[in-house]
Amino acid sequence: MTGSVAPFGDLTYQVVTFGCQMNKHDSERIEGMLEALGARPVGTAAEADIVVFMTCCVREAADVRLYGQVSTLKGEPLRADSPLGRRIVAIGGCIGQRDGRKLAEALPNVNVVFGTHNLRSLPGLLREALDRQEPAVEVLEASDGFPTDLPASREHAWSAWLPIAIGCDNFCSYCIVPYVRGREKSRPFEDIAADAAAYRAEGVKEITLLGQNVNSYGRDLYGKPRFAELLAAVADTGIERLRFATSHPKDITDEVIGAFGTLENLMPALHLPVQSGSDRILTAMNRGYSRERYLSIVGKLRAARPDIALSTDIIVGFPGETEEDFQQTFDLVREVGYHQVFTFIYSKRPGTPAALLDDPTPREVIQERFDRLVDLVQDNAYRANQPDVGTVTDVLFEGPSKRDGSLLAGRSPKNQTVHAPLPAGTAATDFEGVIAPVRIDEAKTWYLRGTLLA
Ligand code: 5AD
Ligand code: SF4
Repeated sequence: MTGSVAPFGDLTYQVVTFGCQMNKHDSERIEGMLEALGARPVGTAAEADIVVFMTCCVREAADVRLYGQVSTLKGEPLRADSPLGRRIVAIGGCIGQRDGRKLAEALPNVNVVFGTHNLRSLPGLLREALDRQEPAVEVLEASDGFPTDLPASREHAWSAWLPIAIGCDNFCSYCIVPYVRGREKSRPFEDIAADAAAYRAEGVKEITLLGQNVNSYGRDLYGKPRFAELLAAVADTGIERLRFATSHPKDITDEVIGAFGTLENLMPALHLPVQSGSDRILTAMNRGYSRERYLSIVGKLRAARPDIALSTDIIVGFPGETEEDFQQTFDLVREVGYHQVFTFIYSKRPGTPAALLDDPTPREVIQERFDRLVDLVQDNAYRANQPDVGTVTDVLFEGPSKRDGSLLAGRSPKNQTVHAPLPAGTAATDFEGVIAPVRIDEAKTWYLRGTLLA
């Protein structure tokens, strides 16, 4: 291979993404860049000349999976008509940032390592790797700007993620994110508003504002958070659906809570990670709020928007968690009645303060608590969906259901999955990106089923 391979006209690529929405969005930018260079996406790593892994290290399981997948790829032959003599493997995202050159040493088939701050370097690094045998590594300590000026290849034309801030300043004691994503850095207000207006003009139906903690948006740039103002400005573009993630309870303001009652296009769904229902554990986690304060926020949200669907994250088995601490988490989950709860077993992350804490709790005890919580979560989700039966709700359709092609699948304002039979004489593609009313006939734990009315 020589440098003349660029641009990547005859090459195929696959981006494999682990982890959060921020990573998924970064992957869209990488796909956009590779496509701009002429490379063609393929569905499997085996068919790909270039494989880019966008990695996550928030829990150990994601770490282990990455090492496994990269090693497996070594035994996978290159496609017969590839113009390259070997497959180029690139690793980016949070493990790239954390491990840098060590990754290429541990995994000999890795050719490129890049971090969370330098997506835009990837094409140059790939060219370098094509030109020589040694791995090309670039990991920066701080961001070289927002990737928002890079081309993006969006999964759905009608739905866009809009990053408003990167990094995190919160240092929850269990969490690796501040170490691999860096300090919080907000994008200028006007740039975000302009992007939102451009998306709206382009026909995008749904914008999701993204940040590790959107509630503190603007603090670094303007000396005070301006998230409520930003929400109003983006809503003012007239975009049909507005959402945001993630929201740290300690920083949510009454203005943001109030926006759920006043902004019609702000969807009635909020992900508000609580992590634990025990004050003792919340303090040990450095979360900056009490159980009581969290519940008062939930009360205010429901006063502003009675039908709001809440979701949360819970960590079970934080070091030193007792049965009583767990019971408080369990009771809080039952009291709030979430639509969706993402449950995680605590995973020790070297370099975080919590990694220094000892925990005598046996693994089986933690697993048993986790299983009890999962049962409650499912029961809650089922109950939370029941009031929708008999109502008519607007659904943003995505296309055919993955399991049954005769059903359309989409999302309700509360972000529930909704299935409806495809009307006779229509194709699922006719409905992609279309918002239409559906009468809900049946509510299950993880989806609603209804009849298209339009
Ligand atoms: N162990 C388990 N779960 C974790 N999370 C973050 N760090 C850890 C960890 N060390 C969870 C939190 C966070 C979600 C994205 O991942 O619940 O909200
Ligand atoms: Fe991690 Fe806490 Fe920042 Fe969320 S707010 S990314 S849990 S440090």
